[in-house]
Amino acid sequence: MSRILPLLVLLTGTALAAVNVKSGAAIYTANCAGCHGAKAQGNVGPNLHEAANWAPPIFARAMLKYVDDKGVPLKAPMPNWGKVGFQGDKGKAPTTAEIANLQAYLKTLK
Ligand code: HEC
Repeated sequence: MSRILPLLVLLTGTALAAVNVKSGAAIYTANCAGCHGAKAQGNVGPNLHEAANWAPPIFARAMLKYVDDKGVPLKAPMPNWGKVGFQGDKGKAPTTAEIANLQAYLKTLK
């Protein structure tokens, strides 16, 4: 057991860190679809098909620091998620996992 336990911990940790597209879908529907469209095709906000393929740190920066891929500040009505947090998060900034799940879901939209 003393040998197996660390392996189990490692495997469980890996499973928890894996992206969860379903959770990303829930975040997208609750927070983004109204402005960016159910399929991220664009509506009040631009389509997010390019942003879906931004390098993960660039996408995370957009969510947390309110700038686009070139570092240009975003504008209202796009919410500043780093300040307001996703629905249900009580104003807490999005987590790394939430952002990864959200981007993983965006990649599934065509
Ligand atoms: C109230 C409307 C609204 C909501 C809700 C909203 N956005 Fe936006 N979003 C916009 C607008 C408008 C822009 C364009 C802002 C600008 O011109 O700077 C934008 C821009 C963006 C951009 C930059 C796109 C690019 O190609 O430069 C990303 C990425 C983005 N939004 C992601 C999201 C995500 C992810 C969510 C949900 C967590 C979300 N937005 C929710 C309105 C919204």
